[in-house]
Amino acid sequence: MATLISDTAPWKDMKAHVGEIDKTHLRDLMTDTERCKSMMTEFDGIFLDYSRQRATGETISKLFTLAEAANLKKKINSMFNGEHINSTEDRSVLHVALRASKDTTINSDGKNVVPEVWQVLDKIKEFSDKVRNGSWIGATGKALTNVIAIGIGGSFLGPLFVHTALQTDPEAAKSAGGRQLRFLANVDPVDVARNISGLDPETTLVVVVSKTFTTAETMLNARTLREWVSSALGPQAVSKHMVAVSTNLKLVEKFGIDPNNAFAFWDWVGGRYSVCSAVGVLPLSLQYGFSFVEKFLKGARSIDQHFHSAPFENNIPVLLGLLSVWNVSFLGYPARAILPYTQALEKLAPHIQQVSMESNGKGVSIDGVRLPFEAGEIDFGEPGTNGQHSFYQLIHQGRVIPCDFIGIVKSQQPVYLRDEVVNNHDELMSNFFAQPDALAYGKTPEQLQSENVASHLVPHKTFTGNRPSVSLLLPSLDAYRIGQLLAIYEHRIAVEGFIWGINSFDQWGVELGKSLASQVRKQLHASRNKGESVEGFNFSTTKLLTRYLEASAD
Ligand code: F6P
Repeated sequence: MATLISDTAPWKDMKAHVGEIDKTHLRDLMTDTERCKSMMTEFDGIFLDYSRQRATGETISKLFTLAEAANLKKKINSMFNGEHINSTEDRSVLHVALRASKDTTINSDGKNVVPEVWQVLDKIKEFSDKVRNGSWIGATGKALTNVIAIGIGGSFLGPLFVHTALQTDPEAAKSAGGRQLRFLANVDPVDVARNISGLDPETTLVVVVSKTFTTAETMLNARTLREWVSSALGPQAVSKHMVAVSTNLKLVEKFGIDPNNAFAFWDWVGGRYSVCSAVGVLPLSLQYGFSFVEKFLKGARSIDQHFHSAPFENNIPVLLGLLSVWNVSFLGYPARAILPYTQALEKLAPHIQQVSMESNGKGVSIDGVRLPFEAGEIDFGEPGTNGQHSFYQLIHQGRVIPCDFIGIVKSQQPVYLRDEVVNNHDELMSNFFAQPDALAYGKTPEQLQSENVASHLVPHKTFTGNRPSVSLLLPSLDAYRIGQLLAIYEHRIAVEGFIWGINSFDQWGVELGKSLASQVRKQLHASRNKGESVEGFNFSTTKLLTRYLEASAD
């Protein structure tokens, strides 16, 4: 019987250590300058301050002991060595190979995968250059200036995050010129309408992105846009206006997309870890040009190397991952708020939500043993300061939710108004610096009384404080930094999974809903086309389906 991490002495020791930490308050911990100094680290421009964690030096060293018990170093190495650490699907987990330099060797099943990665990258460069410079044109001879990328989950959220972050980078925006990149994910006809609104099929390239090329939503959207293209330009136009990204090139061809216009990736790339494959690289390269994508990949690579080789004491993803485990499994805080202080990162939280919750939302260990503790965390977030006017009340006075504050030193878009006290970016950053302290220190009744606050309001204005956060400060937000940020989160999530002893790289939990939807789909078809009554569902679903069918009948 495999050992669960919760059965080990270091786990039990951490549990016992909570009692010690409960005797402390961040208000006091923050007065210890040496402690604070030891809880800051820096790598390649990224500055991490984790002094506002409910932790002492002893906590950190106990976490390292826990990491040892979980064989963290060995597991990280196994990932980089291409071992089949995704055991339930019998696959390697090699998204790091997607951003490796050409001269690196990374083996999966005895074969160096890096040359194949670069073959596809070179093909993307060539194709996107042609589309951008107008040598690949549409069926009616017009340049393709707009791209609709169809895909869902990992075939959507990562590329959307990077696109949104690059859109306001002045150099990237200049390179995009007037081009448009849109993402069609939802099977909802509303999303189709939004995507095609204002676009002309003559000048539009559709990229169908699906690892499996079987995902119901994506395939229906692909058929819908194939119809949109062929009804406007004729069926022969599809070969000029539709390309694909997939691991399943047979199905791509069957769908009617020329295999020469397909961009491959591999089963050792998990969907939610695929933004650095053709999944993200193709649409982003079409929009911004390949050089921006190269910079993005380099940023991710910088963190990969750091994660693989830096000692745990200053290894940013390792520290962040261990602290997450500390918060979730020992302090009992199940959620995390991702709070970037820049609008450019508005899609970071939705992306990380999938990476984290699909990876670590597991109920059993990697050996199939039901976990006696909760793994995974509930991720959500909004850019500051918008979030402050939304859910911060709860994180200041209600539930304790560990927060990630992400700040950018040099804004993508500095604005200076002559008469303001500070420029707009300094105004934004004032909040970035203030919020972590507000959470950590809170406000005591004594402070309020000394400010002559009316006594009946004192309880309402009291903040208990002692609420943990980390602050990440990035020098700027260009393609390179975006790549770094992505890799920090990807590896942090892997670290959590490695400690919990789960498989962070499968996603069986999403299957049940998919198969029930297919049962409903069959019923809707039979009822609409053959007048069959609803059967085989529970009372509630039967009632809802019948009502829907009756009310939507033509
Ligand atoms: O939601 C389940 C899932 O399998 C994700 O893991 C994946 O990113 C998404 O569906 C899309 O899958 P595909 O790229 O195969 O269309």
